This record gives sequence, structure tokens and C-alpha cells, in this order.
Amino acid sequence: MSQEYILEMTDIVKEFPGVRALKGVQLKVRPGTVHTLMGENGAGKSTLMKCLIGIHPPTSGKIVYDGREVHFKSTLEAIKAGISMIHQELSPVPERSVAENLWLGRVPMKNPFMVDHKKMREDSIALFEKLGLDVDPDAKMKELSVAKMQMVEIAKAVSYDSRIVIMDEPTSALTDVEVEHLFRIIAELKEKNVAIIYISHKMDEIFRISDDISVFRDGEYVTTDLASNLDHDKLITLMVGREVTDMFPKVECPIGETVLKVEHLSAGRAVKDVSFELHKGEILGFAGLVGAGRTETVETLFGIRHKTGGRVWKDGKEIDIRSPEQAIAHKIALLTEDRRGNGIVGLLSIKENTALASLKRYGFPLNHKKMISDTEEYVEKLRTKTPSIDTPIQNLSGGNQQKVLVGRWLLTDPDILIVDEPTRGIDVGAKSEIHALLTQLAGEGKAIIMISSEMPEVMGMSDRIVIMHEGYTTGVIDRSDFSSELILKYATSETSDQAAAGKS
Ligand SMILES: Nc1ncnc2c1ncn2[C@@H]1O[C@H](COP(=O)(O)OP(=O)(O)OP(=O)(O)O)[C@@H](O)[C@H]1O
Ligand SMILES: [Mg+2]
Repeated sequence: MSQEYILEMTDIVKEFPGVRALKGVQLKVRPGTVHTLMGENGAGKSTLMKCLIGIHPPTSGKIVYDGREVHFKSTLEAIKAGISMIHQELSPVPERSVAENLWLGRVPMKNPFMVDHKKMREDSIALFEKLGLDVDPDAKMKELSVAKMQMVEIAKAVSYDSRIVIMDEPTSALTDVEVEHLFRIIAELKEKNVAIIYISHKMDEIFRISDDISVFRDGEYVTTDLASNLDHDKLITLMVGREVTDMFPKVECPIGETVLKVEHLSAGRAVKDVSFELHKGEILGFAGLVGAGRTETVETLFGIRHKTGGRVWKDGKEIDIRSPEQAIAHKIALLTEDRRGNGIVGLLSIKENTALASLKRYGFPLNHKKMISDTEEYVEKLRTKTPSIDTPIQNLSGGNQQKVLVGRWLLTDPDILIVDEPTRGIDVGAKSEIHALLTQLAGEGKAIIMISSEMPEVMGMSDRIVIMHEGYTTGVIDRSDFSSELILKYATSETSDQAAAGKS
């Protein structure tokens, strides 16, 4: 008879300087199942996994894997023993090819001195074929979209033929199509008796694929149960210890005059012809498939990307923004999609990361008192979980880093706030707080552009939705006409003939 558990972690304690991240937790995983870890941002999910695979050896506790006690000292040891992990924060080598990233640390050699590039390429193609992925192994990693990068990470973790694959928020940057793909891969892994430890904040996903669910709160173990014994509300109550209501606290508020008008905006190959208008008090959603050019559009408006054509007016005056500094001076703020790439400054503190885009506000010499009180205000508003505002941001959990960035841009007190996937990786409780904040800002007369790949979010929060397809605006829908069918129709349409898109 096979043993009941492939992995048993008991009494795991993990202390970081000043933080007790895990206070004696347990996890028991059955082979051939999906075991999901649930808990609010900062509950300790990623840390528990890092304890397992040797990134942060636990302060104390016992880990039994495949019937024997283990103490991995590095991820390499863990991988050799059959445990691989897809990390929450992707860390590709951007200048290298996809193939090199895939086989990093285990590159096939022709002889002790020469890399076997041909084999590396063939192995990559074979792997992608097996998984049904459409990625060019020769492309530079930095040329890929975040979604594709995430798929490469997934392929990499699977390629080790592990007995346990840990997936820490693997779908955060994926669209529905790719998520389905991942779920097929997961089903195949299960067939081969591989155990999957799955971490996600997306409820519908979790109930579709989980066999077992373990819940953690504040570094403590709460419970483990069969997914079939739990439901959405029960799970949230276990996670947060209180009820969370009002998923989309949308409040209709009067829409004012036009603050931003964009006509025929283009930027290289990604943005071809984008036109729309944004009004005071409005939340304008941006929908579309991955690669539709939404992120590139807002990056162009914010001066990160070079504008190659088109005109932009703010408050009736034509503007020509060439850098983020100029955008900020025009009271435009952008919360970027990729917090690792262009958002956080890891070594700097919460305070410094919060104040970064509003330094003018603090004069010279810097008014530290004001900086501290501002930071404290947003840490409290967003319930950011951190030992102090002087903690380096890289020590925070993924979701809490995102909250600090939200605070940074709210603090700039913009007229136009652009948020790109604002709640990615954010737990359910904090998500509704961010939604409430956005609605409140709109109520105060700010204009908000919100890019979101989550259909319920974009439909729940927006007054109107602009839909993009391959660099073009293909449609605009009013709130009264919202439906996912209509959005999908525009998101996949070939032409922009409905695109007198700017009109309201
Ligand atoms: N390297 C580190 N140094 C200090 N503290 C850390 C470090 N890594 C994590 N922590 C702390 O440990 C706690 C748990 O963090 P962890 O990343 O495990 O949370 P999580 O459950 O994965 O949250 P999320 O859903 O946001 O990813 C947090 O309070 C975090 O600040
Ligand atoms: Mg995490």
C-alpha cells in the first residue's frame, strides 16, 4: 500500500528579524492531489513553501518527504529530491533566450567546455510541444509578455519531472485561455500521481481544481479540509475571521466634463490607433486579451513609451508627455502591472517607496514627519501588513508590496489615476478595500482608468469599458449594456469599425 502523505510538515516555525512569519504550522499533502493554501496577504503561504525547498530553512519544525525526514539547504537539493516551485515573483534573466532561461543551471553540454545549443533548443521545443505552448525558444525573455513569461516558468517547473510541484500564484498574469491550459497540465500531473501545492487568491479557480484546502491566518495554521466540504463564504470566514461583503461596492456618481481626450494614439507596433475620452468622476475600464495593447497604451500616455502618432488633450489643452516626470507634473499617475520590473525599489523602505512619486510634497530638506504620517495613513487605509514603515519593501509578502504601490500613487493626489491590474495578487479582503478606495476617488471627482483582465472586476467597477484588440480600440460599452459576451466580441474583433471609440 502506498503511504498516505507524500509530504508532512509539522510545527514549522519561521522567524525573520522582528517577525514571526510562521508560528508552528502544519501541512499534509496527499500524492496525486491538488492541495491549495489559502490565507490573506502575509499569512505565511509563500514562506512555508520557501521553508520546504531550502530558500529559508525553518527556525524549527519537522519536514517528512516521501517517508523520510529532510532538511534541504538549497532549491537545487529540493529539485534533485523531486520538489520544484513556480515562484510568485518571476525572476527571469531578461537578456537571455527563453531556452537558456528554461535550462538555467542544467544546460546540456557537448563537452566540458561547450554548451550544446542544438539540444537545448530541441529539448525546449519538445517540452513546449508536450505542454501545448506556443513560445519561441530563441526569443529573448524580455521580449515576452508577463503571461508568456509565466507560462515559461510553469514549463520549467514541470520539466524537472518532480513529485511535488509548488505553484505560487501561477495564474496572476494569465488570461482565461492560458488558465485552462494550466489546468490541463495540472490534470496530467495528477494522473502521474504528482502532488500540486497551489496558492491563489482566485476563488473560482480554487474550487475548480482543489482536492484539499489548508487555511492559514497570521502565521498560524487554521484548518485543512476537503474542498468539497467548503464553500466561498466558509473559506473567507476561515481566512479573515470576519465576514467580507460588498465585493464590488460600485457607487454611481455624477460624471463630469472631459479631462482626457485621446485621438489616434500610436506607439510602435503595440499601439496602433487608440481613441477615447475620460471624464471627471468616471471609472473607465480597459478590457481586452493579453497582447491587445492596453498596458502599452497607458505606458505611452504616461511617457514611459515613445509616442509615434496621435494627439492628447488634458482639460482641453493639448499636452505632449515625454517622460513620467512630465506625466506626474500633469497630475497623471500610473500603477504599473509589473511591480518587480518597474514598481518597487526592493531595498528601500515602505516609507521611501510610498513617498517616491511625491517627493515635491515634502520640500527640501525633506519633511520626514509628514512623510511618516502620510505613509502611516496609507498603511492603515490599505491594511498593509508590515512590522514597521522602515522595513525594506522586499521583506513584505507579494500582496502587501502591491498595497504599498497603490498607496504611492494615491498619495500623488492625481487628477487622473491609471491602474493596471490593481488587485493582482491581492487577497479578497484587501481587494474590496482597494475597490472601495477607487470608487471613493471617483466620487471625489478624479478620473480613473482601470485595466483589468478579470471580467467580474472590470464589469463590477467601471462606468464604461473601452475594449482593445491588437493595438486598436474596437468598442466602448456603457454600464447599462455590459455583458461578457459583448466584451469578448469586441476583444476578438478584427477591425475597429465600431471605433468612433471616444464618443461617450
Ligand atoms: N525575507 C523576509 N524578511 C523578513 N520578513 C519576511 C521575509 N519574507 C516574508 N516575510 C514576512 O513573513 C510574513 C509572511 O509572508 P509571506 O510572503 O509568506 O505571505 P503570503 O501568505 O505568501 O502572502 P501573499 O498572499 O501576499 O503572497 C509577512 O509578514 C512578511 O512580511
Ligand atoms: Mg505569497
